[in-house]
Amino acid sequence: MQIIHTVTELRNALKSQSSIGFLPTMGNLHAGHIHLVALAKQHSKTVVVSIFVNPLQFGANEDFGSYPRTFEEDCEKLQSAGAHIVFAPNVSEMYPDFDGQNLNQSMTITPPPIADVLCGASRPGHFTGVATVVMKLFNIVQPDFAVFGKKDFQQLFIIREMVRQFNLQIEIIAGETIREASGLALSSRNGYLTADEKASAAQLQQCLKQMVQSVQQGNTDFTALTTAASRTLTEHGWRVDYVAICSADTLLPAIRGDKTLVALAAAKLGNTRLIDNIDFSC
Ligand code: PAJ
Repeated sequence: MQIIHTVTELRNALKSQSSIGFLPTMGNLHAGHIHLVALAKQHSKTVVVSIFVNPLQFGANEDFGSYPRTFEEDCEKLQSAGAHIVFAPNVSEMYPDFDGQNLNQSMTITPPPIADVLCGASRPGHFTGVATVVMKLFNIVQPDFAVFGKKDFQQLFIIREMVRQFNLQIEIIAGETIREASGLALSSRNGYLTADEKASAAQLQQCLKQMVQSVQQGNTDFTALTTAASRTLTEHGWRVDYVAICSADTLLPAIRGDKTLVALAAAKLGNTRLIDNIDFSC
């Protein structure tokens, strides 16, 4: 496995490759990421994994500074998983006008309006930062396939939209959410949880599961369902950002008759913001 830090070196390494699969990450890799490496391997000969904690997608009061950076361990995991190339640029490599303080990335991708609801409502600019860095990484790696987790359902949706609207010749492959035995979705941010919080964290997925079951049993009062789920979480000490049931095709609020749906939630336990979702049909 090659570890590469510069764009020039990466382009040279990929020059003669015909089938490239790409997994963008921010590192601190867990079994969810490794599942996506396996998925990329199924579709392509050369698998490139990027590790870059992207400052452009973090708000001023968010966890950019404390985001876990575990490069050595990440590389060991990727080596065992059979990835071929790790691309780990520094901030100046990704943002050439970075002056030590400001990124000065004056051109950015404006995501569609759906980026302003759900996670986008409480994280203004987040999806601009995600779409911009992913576009840059796509241009650098020029993959045939790129894999994204359903864990970040809205992110996956926006990336698909970017590929479609900008005519990118990249097939987006979605990976299922990998969970702990408790049901808690694996996330780099789970490491922030105290032991007590960790014991409660699966409640987020349990609330989603209950809503999904109700809808599948014929309850289409989506407002009542999300309000009740939100109340349950609050009673358990969560600070709820949103609970929603949406069309999985449009991410707009679900309406009666929708067949492919997704139940999503974001909430804080202590200082840790967790997100989860379940997509389903009925
Ligand atoms: P990161 O949070 O490191 O996630 C990288 C990829 O792993 C994303 O596609 C995410 O959806 C997926 N993933 C995370 N947890 C997962 C789980 N439990 N099961 C399956 N897949 C999971 O998402 C980002 O980084 C960044 O926004 C990025 C796209 C790299 C742009 O900076």
